[in-house]
Amino acid sequence: MDDWIDYYDSTHTIYVSKLHRDVHFDEIARDIAGYIGAPDAVVLDYSCGEALSAPKVAEACGTLILAEPAPGVRGRLSARFAHHPNIKVRSLDDLPAMPNGSLDLVVMNSVAQYMTPDELDRALALIRRLLRRSGKLVLGDILRPEVGMARDVVALLKLAATHGFLQDALWGLARTALSDYRQLRTKIGLQRYSEAEMLGKLTAAGFAAIRADSNIGHNPWRMTFVARPTG
Ligand SMILES: C[S@@+](CC[C@H](N)C(=O)[O-])C[C@H]1O[C@@H](n2cnc3c(N)ncnc32)[C@H](O)[C@@H]1O
Repeated sequence: MDDWIDYYDSTHTIYVSKLHRDVHFDEIARDIAGYIGAPDAVVLDYSCGEALSAPKVAEACGTLILAEPAPGVRGRLSARFAHHPNIKVRSLDDLPAMPNGSLDLVVMNSVAQYMTPDELDRALALIRRLLRRSGKLVLGDILRPEVGMARDVVALLKLAATHGFLQDALWGLARTALSDYRQLRTKIGLQRYSEAEMLGKLTAAGFAAIRADSNIGHNPWRMTFVARPTG
């Protein structure tokens, strides 16, 4: 396994149970839907993963484009949503060919940590070009340099306790400690940004950005940014 895209294309155990996976995607969909400004909005979910609750997001907008780099995950998305009236599935390589100014909202949640800083800069430049002037980028689940893996564990256990999968979470954490995830996290690592660093990166990419009051999803120690095109 070479990189995080391979990891997410494998039969990984990042979700400790089916209930955990369902709760995760439900929360993400609810939070994304909260950022949709109009019922006809064109929304891009950049590196959407399995996006199991995408129909909930699609209900709140005009078109939902699910873009995913991992080929196996993308194949499942295509099969699952082939007949959905307003969900389209794309690869990241399809995005540069989309018309400038054609998107109202782009969400990139829990993705920046897996990209090199250069990859993230290229993605931000592309997103800036694809967004309408009135559009918005929501960049969620950004890891801060000073917050370590222990907070991730606490956040997972709290979510598990709330939704009744604490035992599965404890087994899942034990599995994760021995897994490819742990090895990759040690070998390649995860990119981390302070609030000021991420605001600087977004400004340099042509956005006016603020940090949102709360993060997308369940981990309050990670950050979400809302960015609007400038100029
Ligand atoms: C933790 S999942 C997040 C999925 C979804 N956005 C969510 O919030 O549940 C990470 C996603 O990032 C993608 N990914 C990993 N490395 C990437 C890279 N270098 N560039 C773009 N996407 C990447 C994976 O394929 C996967 O879909």
